[in-house]
Amino acid sequence: MRTLTAGDRAVIAEFLLSDPAHTRICFDREPVPEDADALLSSAAYGAGAPAHALVGAFDAGGTLVGLLDWVARWPTPASGYVGLLQVRPGRRGAGIGTALLAHAQDAARAQGCRQLMLSVIARHREARTFWCRQGFQLLSAHRERTAGPLEAVVMHRPIPARGPEEHHGPGVTLSA
Ligand SMILES: CC(C)(COP(=O)(O)OP(=O)(O)OC[C@H]1O[C@@H](n2cnc3c(N)ncnc32)[C@H](O)[C@@H]1OP(=O)(O)O)[C@@H](O)C(=O)NCCC(=O)NCCS
Repeated sequence: MRTLTAGDRAVIAEFLLSDPAHTRICFDREPVPEDADALLSSAAYGAGAPAHALVGAFDAGGTLVGLLDWVARWPTPASGYVGLLQVRPGRRGAGIGTALLAHAQDAARAQGCRQLMLSVIARHREARTFWCRQGFQLLSAHRERTAGPLEAVVMHRPIPARGPEEHHGPGVTLSA
């Protein structure tokens, strides 16, 4: 796992283009290489947001298999916000998503955050099932009832104090 920079643009673009279904369900369009630029910038978090971290998980062969975008102390000082968690199709179900989420949680905790937050497209049932299984809950049930198909609902999960029983999901070996 490592932080991605502008030098990784082509690798990120290839990753995004390999999963058109995700862009379709979230944005009702096909992915384009320029989506990598948007991810590399902090634009999605709005002006004044703290610096975000774009993290990539690579397999032993050097292929980018997972992407995590998150920001600490946003939108509140005690929150870490997950902007994107995406695993390459064909590499899912192997613990990569859980490992990236654990990384975000550890890093957010180290920066004083006490909860993780995220937005998920209301109609994205598969993603919402994943987040529920990871212990996230809807922030507002009212919002859930009124959200249109492309609107997002906000979910959150408390960050537990670090303990010996903390579960980081199935072991996954990722090269640096
Ligand atoms: C959601 C996603 C990131 C999960 O990554 P992953 O590497 O496959 O997840 P893991 O292997 O760590 O699985 C963790 C758990 O979630 C479950 N899970 C994984 N994908 C799931 C899915 N699509 N639907 C329901 N459950 C799922 C696994 O069965 C596992 O459960 P378990 O621990 O009880 O066995 C991945 O499926 C993905 O990239 N989906 C498309 C993008 C997306 O929806 N991102 C999230 C919303 S932005």
